[in-house]
Amino acid sequence: MKIVVTGGAGFIGGNFVYFLLKNHAEDFIICYDKLTYAGNLETLSDAMKSKNFKFIKGDIANRDEVYKMFEEEKPDVIVNFAAESHVDRSIEDPELFLRTNIIGTSILLDACKKFGIKRFHQVSTDEVYGDLPLDRPDLFFTEKTNLHTSSPYSASKASADLLVQAYHRTYKIPATISRCSNNYGPYHFPEKLIPLMIINALNNKKLPVYGKGINVRDWLYVEDHCAAIDLIIRNGKVGEIYNVGGHNEKTNIEVVKTILKILGKDENLIEFVTDRKGHDQRYAIDPTKISTELGWTPKTKFDDGIKKTVDWYLQNKSWWEKIISGEYKNYYAKMYDNR
Ligand code: NAD
Ligand code: TYD
Repeated sequence: MKIVVTGGAGFIGGNFVYFLLKNHAEDFIICYDKLTYAGNLETLSDAMKSKNFKFIKGDIANRDEVYKMFEEEKPDVIVNFAAESHVDRSIEDPELFLRTNIIGTSILLDACKKFGIKRFHQVSTDEVYGDLPLDRPDLFFTEKTNLHTSSPYSASKASADLLVQAYHRTYKIPATISRCSNNYGPYHFPEKLIPLMIINALNNKKLPVYGKGINVRDWLYVEDHCAAIDLIIRNGKVGEIYNVGGHNEKTNIEVVKTILKILGKDENLIEFVTDRKGHDQRYAIDPTKISTELGWTPKTKFDDGIKKTVDWYLQNKSWWEKIISGEYKNYYAKMYDNR
């Protein structure tokens, strides 16, 4: 199969490219990516050496570029990771999120309709369900939970999901959707909690924890997410939504303290800062459907995954040092100075 991975120069898309190259030598993989601040060709440097891989620079929200790619490559499968993905940026400036996440997805779907496709897979998020209260640990998101978004990011992802479902129903696009909890692992851009805290701790900088650090996220090692998507595109039922998560709930402060412990750093590096606006309290996935229908279970426990992740950042300093010495400095100052 010819599989186009949009957003494959980003965190999860990049890991998915390597997952496919490792597990499916019979497939040909194309990464289609605009290379925004979050896209990094260095992430794909090993993939570039494979005869089963090709990179195309392109914007999912540019119709001419998308149609040209479909005409020339005739993909069998599209896996759409391409997105603006950071909640804090969406709170500062929502418009780009609407362009990429909604218009971009609709243009990809139009291309599937015009040129044909065997499978369109939309990589969505558990954030489309909103949040759960901290005092109800018995509650989980299922595929039937109502959409109830909090941030411009999650609203744009939910809108894209609705479009995917509409194109499936109206134009019979063979589409599937996965809604995953928070990922962590190699190649994670250092604006997100786990890589930001690892890198700040390594540089003996303060670790900015929003509010009281009691918000809960359900952490999944990125390779487990990749395995779930791979199962869905091959065995998942068209028209269906699959929740992906590993029952790995942690408060933010627990995560931060674990990182400090692994690195042997002092907890006095922690600094509680002004909370995120509209901050979602708790995310927690019920993965029963994907487990029972497709036999997916997460393989990596948080304690092992977080050690592997810290180790990766220790072994790959040049990857992140280049990032934090560039435009990232302005972003960091804007978001965290005087917070
Ligand atoms: P990321 O920000 O690390 O990467 C996004 C990639 O998309 C980058 O390579 C970027 O260059 C590319 N991109 C952005 N706009 C584009 C455009 N207009 N055209 C083409 N490429 C474009 O994001 P990520 O964390 O890897 O997330 C990937 C997907 O998974 C997103 O759709 C996100 O909503 C979803 N998701 C993420 C998480 C998580 O924990 N990170 C959890 C669940 C779902
Ligand atoms: P993040 O990695 O941005 O993912 P998401 O908002 O999609 O869950 O944030 C994870 C949690 O960590 C979230 O509750 C916000 C919190 N957080 C901090 O406390 N400090 C930070 O500097 C960042 C980036 C996040």
